[in-house]
This record gives sequence, structure tokens and C-alpha cells, in this order.
Amino acid sequence: MCGIVGYVGERAVTPLLLEALEKLEYRGYDSAGIALVSDGGIEIQKTRGRIADLRRIVESAGDSGCTVGIGHTRWATHGEPSDVNSHPHLSKSGRVAVVHNGIIENYIELRAFLSAHGYEFSTETDSEVVSELIDYCYSGDPVAAVRKAELQLRGSYALGIIFADFPEQIIALRKDSPLIIGIGENENFIASDIPAILKYTRDVFRLDERELAVLSKKRVAVFNELGERVEHVIEHIEWDAGAAEKGGYPHFMIKEIMEQPEAISKTVAPRIDANGDILLGFKSLSDEDLKNIDSIKLTACGSAYHVGVVAKHLLKKWLDIPVEAELASEFRYDDPILNERTLVIVISQSGETLDTLYALREAKNKGARTVSIVNVVASSIANESEEVLYTWAGPEISVATTKAYSTQLVLVELLGIRMAQLRGKLSDCEVKELVSAIKCIPSGIETILSDVQTMQYVASLYFNSQSVFFLGRNIDFALSLEASLKLKEISYIHSEAYAAGELKHGTISLIEDGTLVIALCTYRPLLDKMISNIKEVKARGAKVIAIINEDDIQTGTVADHIIRIPECGEISAPSLTIVPLQLFAYYIASLKGCDIDKPRNLAKSVTVE
Ligand code: F6R
Repeated sequence: MCGIVGYVGERAVTPLLLEALEKLEYRGYDSAGIALVSDGGIEIQKTRGRIADLRRIVESAGDSGCTVGIGHTRWATHGEPSDVNSHPHLSKSGRVAVVHNGIIENYIELRAFLSAHGYEFSTETDSEVVSELIDYCYSGDPVAAVRKAELQLRGSYALGIIFADFPEQIIALRKDSPLIIGIGENENFIASDIPAILKYTRDVFRLDERELAVLSKKRVAVFNELGERVEHVIEHIEWDAGAAEKGGYPHFMIKEIMEQPEAISKTVAPRIDANGDILLGFKSLSDEDLKNIDSIKLTACGSAYHVGVVAKHLLKKWLDIPVEAELASEFRYDDPILNERTLVIVISQSGETLDTLYALREAKNKGARTVSIVNVVASSIANESEEVLYTWAGPEISVATTKAYSTQLVLVELLGIRMAQLRGKLSDCEVKELVSAIKCIPSGIETILSDVQTMQYVASLYFNSQSVFFLGRNIDFALSLEASLKLKEISYIHSEAYAAGELKHGTISLIEDGTLVIALCTYRPLLDKMISNIKEVKARGAKVIAIINEDDIQTGTVADHIIRIPECGEISAPSLTIVPLQLFAYYIASLKGCDIDKPRNLAKSVTVE
């Protein structure tokens, strides 16, 4: 999704903005631009394409000498990716320039209003109304103009705004879209995410909902929606900029796949005490509250939702209460039945996914208890949920999630096990066994990662496939959803995940000579049925790769290729099984020469509905 940066200080702003925007490339974008302000007014440079294209344009224009400016990477929503639709948007008067992340839902209405007042529009975007509206509201006081304009805006927005009349300041404002402020010496920053400014400062804070910040070189003043001054605690970022670099790997995705053992250890270790008991560190949800929960809903988007689907099976079995997984984008529009005995578990790497944030708010409005499982510390979802469990996976830059998915899964498992223990559904001894199996996951994944050649070889046989089907039953079906998403999102190969028993109710007509089917066969209770399903597709010409348990001696006799998952306890299987499938997707995309870390049309942080 769109990325915002802004700088006010003493450095040459153009190279700084370009470099900062490059650090936000992972978010996904199709055009980029900057606006610089000086006594001479506001100057805009923007283009469809990559930052490298913008850099060429900017460099051919020569040094601007400016030290204040804003920049943007646009992920098109309203209007095609084009030079004119790119941000920043400069009001026709030349007085106000704006970069925007989010969606202005009532932009048609606002356009009509402003047109009636003589304003003209040159883009198809929703964002252009913001610069014109602020211009309309402006009569010498930038903060008053922004606040007055904001009263008319509906939707989500993180905004960076500069005024030609005030060349030494930037105004930032946010609602439902993330924005951080970076504090330096004689310089200050705005950005959509920390990596953009980490080279210059480690001292940051996140703007809260509807807060407005005025940044000049020497100070940052923040005001809440009532216009009152607010102070933020500054967070000192400990992680190294290197954590957001490729570290010798060709892509972030493979680096992050390789980081999974360590990431999982970091998620799990601090939550297990010396006796093997699980510590969740909840402040508001007491043990008594957790005992009283009589249903659970897991809600999230994309891969995080797939974690929810896996967890649904496990939590239902351990807790013996109704557990459902729901897509966050559907959740709040489906009139969910929730009350104070429902626990809503919200899962999100970024902590900013708008659908997930809205699902969380719906849950809270209806009185449910809420726990979020989040990677990005102090993100909106983390801040707004009753309890937060951080995955501590470190920055995830590749658009396709891997280590965040894996850490979310173990964390939701720990939550489920603890709840089952409190409710007397799992004995202390069973809990200890499950916990030690979870602790074995990192070494199991290391074993898989020590032999990437097998997946590389299999990928080399099938990277020209037109279509791939993933089959599984129960938890293996849940994992198929994720495996299929991984493959299609980065390699652009059409793929579908099917509950293996469902295939013959229609989809099997798509299986023909040479169609690749990946059969996930780690769920022991239904192995015989999976073997029958493999035979059904083989009989129609499919080529089958089966993912099997280490001790499985049957499936290898029916499949074309087998990938063995090391044995380390039933609960570990889902965490291990996904890893070769992540590698498979990665190597296929690599052989096809795809832009693996930044797949087309995708964004890392999805801050629009
Ligand atoms: C796929 C992927 C996405 C995200 C989804 C939710 O590889 O990464 O499907 O899982 O957009 O994002 P978060 O977890 O940030 O809420």
C-alpha cells in the first residue's frame, strides 16, 4: 500500500526522500513522487513506475537545495497508475501539497462541492480532493485549515502536508492508516514505517488516531482531535537496520524463510517458564475470564487468516468449545454473534490491516473479549486490542509472509493450550508434552532448511506448470490454503487449494495429463482417504508431489515425488509442513524470474478495505 515519507531539517532533502522511499518499496507501489518546499514555493516531481525512474527525473533536474519535503509511493486504488495520478498532489493554487495513504470514501461528494466553488481536478484519484479541500479551508493558518478540512473527510488517511507559505514545516495527520514520527537533532521525519528513516534516527513514536503533528527542524508538536497538546513516549528502536537488509540473500523472502527457526524460538522462549508453564502476561484478561469464554472467533486476512484456519482445528479439539475462523473483510458485515463470553483472536503481521482493525473494533463494540497476535509493536491493532501477544519475528520485508505466519501459528497454539489447561481440558502433563513439542519446532525446521536442494529440484521440474492444485484434509487442508496462496502470489501460477474429498464434486474435471497436484498427507487420522484421493487424480493423469510424515511407508508408493517432514510431535506438523511449500513457491518464482519480494499488484500493509 502507499508509503509516505517526509523530512524537515538541514540535509539535502531530495536524496534523503528517495532513499527513504526505497526502504518502503516492499509495501508495494506503482508510482512515486516527491514535493519540495522552499521560499520559492512548492516543486513537484512524480512519475509512474519505480523509484529508479523517479531518481532519473529528479537527477536530471539538478540539485534543488531544499531541506524540507514529502514523498510518496502510490499503490493505485482510484485511477490507473499514471504520472498524473501519482502523489504528491499540489492544489491548483500552488499553496498546498499532500501525500495520502488510505481512501477518502466521500471524494465524489467533495469533488462536486469543490467544483461548485470553482476548483478544478486533473486526476482520477480520491486523494486530490484533500489538497484542494485544504486549500479551500486555508486562510493563513495551516493547522486550522487541515482540521477544518478533516471535518469533511470520510474514510482512512495518513497525510503529509506542506504549505508554500510555511516552507519550514510539515503537517502530519492520521486516521485508520499508520504514520510514525522520527525525532532527530535539528531534523524530524514522518514515515509509514520505521525502516524508511532508521538510517537517520532510532527515536520514533506512532501518531494515535486523529492526532495532528506539526514538524519543524527543532520541534514536533502533537495535538489530539480536541486541539489539546499531547506528549508521546519516544520508543528507541533496538533492532539493527541490517535486520531490514537482505544480508547476502538474493531476496528477503528466502532470508525470512531461513530466519524461521530463530524467529519461532524468540516467540516461544520468553513465554515458557522454568517449569514448562505458559506465561501469556495478560493484564486485563484474568484466568477466570479465560475460563468463562464459551466460544472463540479467529479473524484475519490472507495468510494470517490461514493461521486462524489451522488454529481453529487445534483450539476446538483442545478446548471443546465452538471455534470459528472468519475472514476479517467479511466479519463485520456478517452481523457476528458476539458477547462478553466470546474471545475474538485477531491476527496480523503489520497490525495495520484495515479490515482486521475494523473487525477488532466490531468485536469490541459487541462486548467480546479481544486478544491480538501482532508482529509490529505499537501498531493500531496492537494498541486497540484488549490484550496483545507479540510475535517478535523482527521486521518482515518480503510481501509474501513466511516467518510472521510461522510465529503467529505457534503463538496462537500457546494461547489455546493455556486456555485448555485453565479449563481443565488438558492436564499439566499433556501441556508439558505439547510445550516440549513446540520447543522442537525450530530444530525440525532447521532440518528441512538444511536440504533446500530437494525443493529446488522439484521446482525445476514444474516451474512451467499452468495450474497447480493443493489437496489436504483437516489441518492439511488449512495448510493447503497457505501453500496455494504462497505459490500464486509470487509465481503468478494459477493454483487452488481443495479439501481433498471435495475435488470430485466438480473440480476434478480440471485434472488432465500432467496437471500438478500437491497432496498434503501429514494428518494421520485421514491418511488412507488421502491416498485414495491421490489415486483418483493419478488415474486422470496428474503428477503428484506428496508431503508425508517421516515414517509413512504407504504414500510413496502412489505419488510421483515425496517430501518427508521430520517427526517431532503431532502439534509440530503444521509448522513444519508449510516450510517445504514456502521453498517450493520461492524456487518456482525464482526460476520464472519473478519479482519475488514485490509481486505485482500486491502490498505488504493493506490499509484500505
Ligand atoms: C500473503 C500475505 C498476506 C497477509 C495479509 C494480512 O503472503 O502476506 O495475505 O497475510 O495481507 O496482513 P497482516 O498480517 O499484516 O494483517
